[in-house]
Amino acid sequence: MAATPTQVNHIGDLLSRAHGRVLELGPGSGDQMYHYSPGNVEKLYAAEPNAFLHPRLLQMAAKHDLAGKVVLLEAGGQPGSLLPALKQQGLLSSTTSSLPEQGVFDTVVTIKSLCSLPQSQLTATIAVVQALLKPGGQFLFFEHVENNTDSITKMYVWLVEWVWPALMGGCRLNGKIDKVVLGMGGWDERRISTVGDFKGHEVFRYVKGMATKA
Ligand SMILES: C[S@@+](CC[C@H](N)C(=O)[O-])C[C@H]1O[C@@H](n2cnc3c(N)ncnc32)[C@H](O)[C@@H]1O
Repeated sequence: MAATPTQVNHIGDLLSRAHGRVLELGPGSGDQMYHYSPGNVEKLYAAEPNAFLHPRLLQMAAKHDLAGKVVLLEAGGQPGSLLPALKQQGLLSSTTSSLPEQGVFDTVVTIKSLCSLPQSQLTATIAVVQALLKPGGQFLFFEHVENNTDSITKMYVWLVEWVWPALMGGCRLNGKIDKVVLGMGGWDERRISTVGDFKGHEVFRYVKGMATKA
Protein backbone atom coordinates (compact mmCIF):
# COMPACT_ATOMS: atom_id res chain seq x y z
CA MET A 1 0.00 0.00 0.00
CA ALA A 2 1.32 3.44 -0.91
CA ALA A 3 2.68 5.65 1.86
CA THR A 4 3.17 9.43 1.93
CA PRO A 5 6.76 10.75 2.03
CA THR A 6 6.44 11.44 5.78
CA GLN A 7 5.09 7.96 6.38
CA VAL A 8 7.87 6.42 4.27
CA ASN A 9 10.52 7.92 6.56
CA HIS A 10 8.87 6.62 9.72
CA ILE A 11 8.09 3.19 8.30
CA GLY A 12 11.67 2.99 7.04
CA ASP A 13 13.00 3.89 10.47
CA LEU A 14 10.88 1.17 12.09
CA LEU A 15 11.54 -1.63 9.61
CA SER A 16 15.28 -1.00 9.51
CA ARG A 17 15.28 -1.98 13.23
CA ALA A 18 13.68 -5.39 12.59
CA HIS A 19 16.10 -8.20 13.23
CA GLY A 20 16.39 -11.92 13.82
CA ARG A 21 13.22 -13.94 13.62
CA VAL A 22 10.54 -11.47 12.55
CA LEU A 23 6.75 -11.75 12.45
CA GLU A 24 4.85 -9.23 10.33
CA LEU A 25 1.07 -9.01 10.68
CA GLY A 26 -0.72 -7.95 7.47
CA PRO A 27 2.19 -7.25 5.09
CA GLY A 28 -0.22 -7.00 2.15
CA SER A 29 1.58 -7.37 -1.15
CA GLY A 30 4.94 -6.47 0.36
CA ASP A 31 5.03 -2.80 -0.63
CA GLN A 32 6.97 -1.90 2.52
CA MET A 33 9.36 -4.81 2.29
CA TYR A 34 12.16 -2.76 0.79
CA HIS A 35 12.66 -1.08 4.16
CA TYR A 36 13.93 -4.26 5.82
CA SER A 37 17.69 -4.70 6.15
CA PRO A 38 17.97 -8.22 4.67
CA GLY A 39 21.23 -8.91 6.49
CA ASN A 40 19.53 -8.38 9.85
CA VAL A 41 16.53 -10.60 9.11
CA GLU A 42 17.02 -14.29 9.72
CA LYS A 43 13.46 -15.33 8.86
CA LEU A 44 10.34 -13.28 8.13
CA TYR A 45 7.01 -14.90 8.98
CA ALA A 46 4.44 -12.97 6.95
CA ALA A 47 0.92 -13.42 8.36
CA GLU A 48 -1.26 -12.16 5.51
CA PRO A 49 -4.90 -13.36 5.59
CA ASN A 50 -5.54 -12.40 1.96
CA ALA A 51 -4.00 -15.30 0.03
CA PHE A 52 -4.47 -13.44 -3.28
CA LEU A 53 -1.63 -11.16 -2.20
CA HIS A 54 0.81 -14.00 -1.49
CA PRO A 55 2.32 -14.36 -4.99
CA ARG A 56 3.12 -10.64 -5.15
CA LEU A 57 4.48 -10.77 -1.59
CA LEU A 58 6.94 -13.47 -2.64
CA GLN A 59 7.93 -11.46 -5.73
CA MET A 60 8.66 -8.45 -3.54
CA ALA A 61 10.66 -10.62 -1.14
CA ALA A 62 12.80 -11.83 -4.04
CA LYS A 63 13.23 -8.30 -5.35
CA HIS A 64 14.46 -7.06 -1.98
CA ASP A 65 16.91 -9.83 -1.12
CA LEU A 66 14.58 -11.67 1.22
CA ALA A 67 14.00 -14.69 -1.01
CA GLY A 68 14.24 -17.86 1.01
CA LYS A 69 13.68 -15.97 4.25
CA VAL A 70 9.95 -15.38 3.93
CA VAL A 71 7.46 -17.89 5.29
CA LEU A 72 3.87 -17.15 4.30
CA LEU A 73 1.08 -17.71 6.80
CA GLU A 74 -2.51 -17.43 5.63
CA ALA A 75 -3.62 -15.90 8.91
CA GLY A 76 -4.78 -12.69 10.52
CA GLY A 77 -3.21 -11.18 13.62
CA GLN A 78 -6.03 -12.19 15.97
CA PRO A 79 -4.98 -15.08 18.24
CA GLY A 80 -7.60 -17.53 16.94
CA SER A 81 -6.14 -17.21 13.45
CA LEU A 82 -2.45 -16.56 14.17
CA LEU A 83 -1.69 -19.19 16.79
CA PRO A 84 -2.87 -22.22 14.75
CA ALA A 85 -0.75 -20.94 11.81
CA LEU A 86 2.32 -20.68 14.06
CA LYS A 87 1.64 -24.18 15.37
CA GLN A 88 1.47 -25.43 11.81
CA GLN A 89 4.94 -24.00 11.23
CA GLY A 90 6.23 -25.83 14.30
CA LEU A 91 6.98 -22.54 16.10
CA LEU A 92 4.57 -23.42 18.90
CA SER A 93 3.85 -26.74 20.49
CA SER A 94 0.74 -28.38 19.14
CA THR A 95 0.18 -30.25 22.38
CA THR A 96 0.09 -27.40 24.93
CA SER A 97 -2.06 -24.28 24.94
CA SER A 98 0.48 -22.10 26.77
CA LEU A 99 3.00 -19.98 24.89
CA PRO A 100 6.74 -20.56 25.46
CA GLU A 101 8.11 -18.44 28.32
CA GLN A 102 11.25 -17.59 26.34
CA GLY A 103 9.19 -16.21 23.44
CA VAL A 104 9.51 -17.00 19.75
CA PHE A 105 10.27 -13.78 17.84
CA ASP A 106 12.90 -11.06 18.09
CA THR A 107 10.65 -8.56 16.33
CA VAL A 108 6.93 -8.23 15.59
CA VAL A 109 5.89 -5.63 13.01
CA THR A 110 2.53 -4.16 11.98
CA ILE A 111 2.18 -1.44 9.35
CA LYS A 112 -1.33 -0.11 8.67
CA SER A 113 -2.88 -3.51 9.20
CA LEU A 114 -4.34 -3.74 12.71
CA CYS A 115 -7.14 -1.35 11.71
CA SER A 116 -8.53 -4.31 9.76
CA LEU A 117 -8.46 -6.60 12.78
CA PRO A 118 -11.77 -7.07 14.64
CA GLN A 119 -11.23 -4.25 17.15
CA SER A 120 -12.82 -6.30 19.95
CA GLN A 121 -9.75 -8.54 19.63
CA LEU A 122 -7.11 -5.82 19.63
CA THR A 123 -6.19 -6.14 23.32
CA ALA A 124 -5.95 -9.93 23.12
CA THR A 125 -3.87 -9.63 19.95
CA ILE A 126 -1.35 -7.24 21.53
CA ALA A 127 -1.14 -9.49 24.61
CA VAL A 128 -0.26 -12.40 22.34
CA VAL A 129 2.24 -10.27 20.40
CA GLN A 130 3.95 -9.50 23.70
CA ALA A 131 3.90 -13.14 24.76
CA LEU A 132 5.41 -14.19 21.42
CA LEU A 133 8.33 -11.78 21.78
CA LYS A 134 11.55 -12.95 23.34
CA PRO A 135 12.68 -10.88 26.36
CA GLY A 136 14.21 -7.72 24.88
CA GLY A 137 12.28 -8.31 21.64
CA GLN A 138 10.67 -5.35 19.92
CA PHE A 139 7.13 -4.60 18.82
CA LEU A 140 7.29 -2.05 15.99
CA PHE A 141 4.09 -0.51 14.69
CA PHE A 142 2.79 2.21 12.41
CA GLU A 143 -1.00 2.46 12.56
CA HIS A 144 -3.80 4.98 12.47
CA VAL A 145 -5.78 5.49 15.66
CA GLU A 146 -8.95 7.30 16.64
CA ASN A 147 -9.01 11.04 16.80
CA ASN A 148 -10.51 11.93 20.15
CA THR A 149 -9.29 15.51 20.32
CA ASP A 150 -12.00 17.20 18.29
CA SER A 151 -15.75 16.59 18.79
CA ILE A 152 -16.83 17.60 15.26
CA THR A 153 -14.32 15.17 13.71
CA LYS A 154 -15.48 12.49 16.15
CA MET A 155 -19.05 12.92 14.97
CA TYR A 156 -17.96 12.92 11.32
CA VAL A 157 -15.96 9.71 11.87
CA TRP A 158 -18.95 8.13 13.59
CA LEU A 159 -21.03 8.77 10.45
CA VAL A 160 -18.32 7.63 8.02
CA GLU A 161 -17.85 4.43 10.04
CA TRP A 162 -21.22 3.21 8.76
CA VAL A 163 -19.80 2.65 5.28
CA TRP A 164 -15.99 2.88 5.59
CA PRO A 165 -15.20 -0.70 6.70
CA ALA A 166 -17.40 -2.14 3.93
CA LEU A 167 -15.60 -0.08 1.31
CA MET A 168 -12.08 -0.41 2.74
CA GLY A 169 -11.63 -4.08 3.47
CA GLY A 170 -12.74 -3.92 7.09
CA CYS A 171 -10.56 -0.93 8.04
CA ARG A 172 -11.87 0.78 11.20
CA LEU A 173 -11.24 4.39 12.10
CA ASN A 174 -11.39 3.88 15.86
CA GLY A 175 -8.06 2.09 16.42
CA LYS A 176 -6.60 2.21 19.92
CA ILE A 177 -3.24 0.52 19.62
CA ASP A 178 -1.52 3.44 21.35
CA LYS A 179 -3.82 3.18 24.37
CA VAL A 180 -3.59 -0.61 24.51
CA VAL A 181 0.21 -0.66 24.46
CA LEU A 182 0.47 2.18 26.98
CA GLY A 183 -2.11 0.54 29.24
CA MET A 184 -0.40 -2.82 29.66
CA GLY A 185 2.55 -3.94 31.75
CA GLY A 186 5.36 -6.21 30.62
CA TRP A 187 7.23 -3.66 28.50
CA ASP A 188 10.64 -2.25 29.40
CA GLU A 189 10.38 0.78 27.20
CA ARG A 190 7.58 2.26 25.10
CA ARG A 191 7.96 5.08 22.63
CA ILE A 192 4.78 6.11 20.85
CA SER A 193 4.36 9.34 18.93
CA THR A 194 1.90 10.92 16.55
CA VAL A 195 3.61 11.42 13.22
CA GLY A 196 3.29 14.21 10.70
CA ASP A 197 1.68 17.56 11.05
CA PHE A 198 -1.41 16.52 13.07
CA LYS A 199 -3.64 19.48 13.82
CA GLY A 200 -6.49 17.79 15.68
CA HIS A 201 -9.26 17.74 13.09
CA GLU A 202 -7.96 14.96 10.83
CA VAL A 203 -9.80 11.64 10.54
CA PHE A 204 -6.50 9.77 10.42
CA ARG A 205 -3.98 10.14 13.22
CA TYR A 206 -0.98 7.96 12.55
CA VAL A 207 1.18 6.75 15.39
CA LYS A 208 4.61 5.20 15.29
CA GLY A 209 5.49 2.92 18.16
CA MET A 210 8.33 0.87 19.54
CA ALA A 211 7.83 -1.25 22.62
CA THR A 212 10.50 -3.49 24.09
CA LYS A 213 9.48 -6.57 26.03
CA ALA A 214 10.80 -6.69 29.59
C1 LIG B 1 -3.84 -1.23 4.23
S1 LIG B 1 -3.19 -2.79 3.92
C2 LIG B 1 -1.51 -2.56 4.45
C3 LIG B 1 -0.57 -3.54 3.85
C4 LIG B 1 0.91 -3.35 4.21
N1 LIG B 1 1.13 -3.48 5.65
C5 LIG B 1 1.43 -2.03 3.72
O1 LIG B 1 1.56 -1.09 4.52
O2 LIG B 1 1.71 -1.93 2.53
C6 LIG B 1 -3.92 -3.76 5.24
C7 LIG B 1 -3.49 -5.20 5.26
O3 LIG B 1 -4.00 -5.82 6.44
C8 LIG B 1 -4.44 -7.12 6.08
N2 LIG B 1 -5.41 -7.60 7.09
C9 LIG B 1 -6.75 -7.68 6.98
N3 LIG B 1 -7.27 -8.23 8.09
C10 LIG B 1 -6.23 -8.51 8.92
C11 LIG B 1 -6.12 -9.11 10.19
N4 LIG B 1 -7.18 -9.54 10.85
N5 LIG B 1 -4.88 -9.25 10.73
C12 LIG B 1 -3.79 -8.81 10.07
N6 LIG B 1 -3.83 -8.23 8.85
C13 LIG B 1 -5.04 -8.08 8.28
C14 LIG B 1 -5.04 -6.94 4.71
O4 LIG B 1 -5.19 -8.16 4.04
C15 LIG B 1 -4.02 -6.01 4.08
O5 LIG B 1 -2.99 -6.73 3.50
